[in-house]
Formats: sequence, structure tokens, C-alpha cells
Amino acid sequence: MNTALLLLFFTACEGEPPEQVLTTDLSYYQDVAPLLSRSCVGCHDANSTLGAMDLSSYEQAQTWAPVIASEVEAGTMPPWRADTDCNSYKDTLALSEEEKGLILEWATLGTPEGDPQAATELTEPRRPPTLDRVDMELTMPVAFTPAGSPDDYRCFLMEWPAEQDVWVTGFEITPGNYETVHHVIPYLIDPEDADGYRALDAADEGEGYRCYGGPGGDVTTLINTRWLGSWAPGGGASTFPQGTGLQVAPGSLVAFQVHYYVEPGTTPEPDQSSIQLKIEEQAQGWGDVQPWTDVQWVLGLGMEIPPETQGVTHTFSYALGQSDRFAMHSLALHMHTLGRSGRMVVKHEDGSETCLIDVPAYDFNWQRSYLLETPYVAVPGDTIELTCTWDNPGSEQVSWGDGTGDEMCLGISYLSAP
Ligand code: HEC
Repeated sequence: MNTALLLLFFTACEGEPPEQVLTTDLSYYQDVAPLLSRSCVGCHDANSTLGAMDLSSYEQAQTWAPVIASEVEAGTMPPWRADTDCNSYKDTLALSEEEKGLILEWATLGTPEGDPQAATELTEPRRPPTLDRVDMELTMPVAFTPAGSPDDYRCFLMEWPAEQDVWVTGFEITPGNYETVHHVIPYLIDPEDADGYRALDAADEGEGYRCYGGPGGDVTTLINTRWLGSWAPGGGASTFPQGTGLQVAPGSLVAFQVHYYVEPGTTPEPDQSSIQLKIEEQAQGWGDVQPWTDVQWVLGLGMEIPPETQGVTHTFSYALGQSDRFAMHSLALHMHTLGRSGRMVVKHEDGSETCLIDVPAYDFNWQRSYLLETPYVAVPGDTIELTCTWDNPGSEQVSWGDGTGDEMCLGISYLSAP
């Protein structure tokens, strides 16, 4: 990429206000297009299914420049919340401070176009990855039209069809209606808990049952449930590290949780989303989507967020036992809407620290999993520390729960044997 030369000349003439002359070779074709291509166009192109406007041409970028600048400055677009000073992640969409500066400067300068003949070569837009093979597909039993507005959280149970143990080695979630599906988290329910979930489903009128922040169910069943994956706009398929997978027993269920968002004043269309899975019948190395949290919090103790407070922080530390050895591949953080920031670090015996994920501006609507460039291999002596921070402007104390007004603090990580 060309380094932009930005020269500012100030000429102050006597008796006249200072005149500002800007000369720069900063332009769309040389500087801005490559950044938009890499970090934005994967979601923002002419055939976007996500309802995101096209940002793949000069004309479009120019039209949207003021909004682009404000979103980039606020750090809300691209929707990449993990701080890249903390660790390095695969397929990052993040813009560096310098890159952000270029986009802002370009907008301020009135969106100079530059010479298309001398355009910097574009990198391929970072598009969501896909699966190389689909062995099983589970679809919501019937189409569902969200009734709550603006938000409706619904879990749909899907029977697990395999008749013997199999290993899931990859997943991809396909929303049936990109207009209303805001995000999806399918949970794996063990066979012994399946009836409890069927009862939840039966007790709630209509298709599926209401659930928020989890698949529902009591604390013990909640601890047993595993994440089968997650989807948020722009998220694609995940393939687990070679030779590892999630073991699933026959008789399991999938509780497919969908967060619907209905733009106020609009009439929602029905949705029938699905999940595609890559499956192995031969045993794979142990893999697990591990939630990290303090069991005390889940039991309703010690995660109080008092009313009318800002920056309330709670921390959970887990010291690895002598037999604990695993590799951590991906990281995600989960809070509800009061969540402001969160991080997960490893404290080593010698006092040093490895940052795993740091989300300085958490947004409930843009939760995703971040894949470490280099997996972290945890060893005995390490302490894993999870910290969540909330703002509570309301007049009620908030603590752990699966209601809209409750909170959670979870780290989620894909683990395998080292
Ligand atoms: C992972 C997908 C994704 C990526 C990558 C992405 N966006 Fe977006 N963007 C969206 C979606 C979806 C919307 C629609 C609004 C929403 O759901 O928040 C949106 C909305 C916007 C808006 C409109 C906000 C408004 O107030 O109407 C702007 C401007 C924008 N994006 C700019 C960018 C820029 C610039 C980049 C790259 C630096 C980028 N986006 C990268 C998905 C993405």
C-alpha cells in the first residue's frame, strides 16, 4: 500500500484569516480501496445477504463516506471487537490505527478519487469461510415468524439423527432469513438431559420455546450443554483443528437458539434456519467448546451489578491442576446488553501474562469467536483469568440469569489435547 503523503501548509497573511491549503496524494484508488476491500467488502458488496450497503466502488464509498468515517472512528465497523494488541487472530478484519487514520483523512479531504489506472492492487475481500464437505444437515422443524419486537429469542429442538457416536469436525450455520436472524447459537444437549428440554418446549406455546442467553434448563443441565458453534453476521463456517472433534452420543438433541431482530414498524417474514455439519465416524482427538465461568455466579452468588453504577467488574480465576494440559484455539466472550468490556488472560507462574482476548467495547449484537493465529498451550501453573465489566444505568440490581434483563460473563474457547 502507498504510504500517503499528507502535507499541510499554513499561510497566514497579515490582516487576513489564515488560509489552509491541503496537498496530498491520499486517494481512494491508491489507499482507501484496498482497506475497504479487505475489511468491509466481504459483507458490503452488491449481493450482500446481510442488509449491508455496497461499498465496493468509488461512487458507493463516496456516497457513504461520512457514515463510514463515523463508524470507523467509533470502532463499530468493521464489527471486529477483539483488540489486536492482545493477540493475533486468523483472518482478521481489524483496521490498524494508521489504517483508520487514512480512511478518516480521506473522508475529511472530500473523498479524493485518484487515478484508477494507477490503482493499488486489491486484496481479496475477507469472506466468511465455507466447509469443504457437508455430512449432516439439521433444519428447524418448521418455519417460524418472530412475534416479539424488536427482539425475540427462541430455541428450537432438533433430534440428533446418528445412531452411534460420531465426531463433529466442522459446522456452518445458514440463516433462513437474513433480515430477521441476528445471531444463532446451537447447543448440544446430552441424551440424559433431553427429556428436560422436551418438557421446556412442550410448556411453551407455538414453535420452539423462549430462551435467552442460553438454551434454558436448570443450572446442572446448563453446565452439561456444549456449544455446537455460533453465527453472527459475517461469520462463516468453522473447521476444528485437524484430528479433533466434538463427540456426540446417539439420543442427543440440538437446542438451536435464534435471536430474531425485527426492525420496529416492519412486518417480519418467516425464518427456517439450518446447520450443516462435517462429521467423522472414526474417533477423533478430544475437542470441546469450553465455557469458562465461575460456578458461584451461575448459582446466583458474587456477580452482583448494583443499580446506577458504571464499570462494575467481576473476575474469575481458574488455576490449572497438575493434569490440566490443553491447547486453546479460539476465544469468544459472552455477556448480555449491559456488558461493556471483557478480557481473558493467562497468568504464568513467573508473574508474566499472556493476553488471549481483550474486547474493550463489547457489543451484544456482534459476538463472534476469534481464532488464535497460534494456539495457546496451557500448562499446570497457569491461571486463566476472565474479567467482565458492566454498566448498569437501571434502578434494579442485576446478577446472573438467562432473562433479557439478567447478565452473564462467559469465556468460550475451543480446546483440544496439546
Ligand atoms: C462482518 C460483516 C461486516 C463487515 C466486515 C463490515 N460491515 Fe459494515 N455493516 C454490516 C451490517 C450487517 C450492517 C447493517 C447494520 C447492522 O446490522 O448493524 C453494516 C452497517 C454499516 C454501516 C451503516 C451504519 C448505519 O448507521 O447505518 C456502515 C457505514 C458500515 N457498515 C461501514 C463498514 C465499513 C467501513 C467496514 C470496513 C471497515 C464494514 N462496515 C465492515 C456488516 C459488516
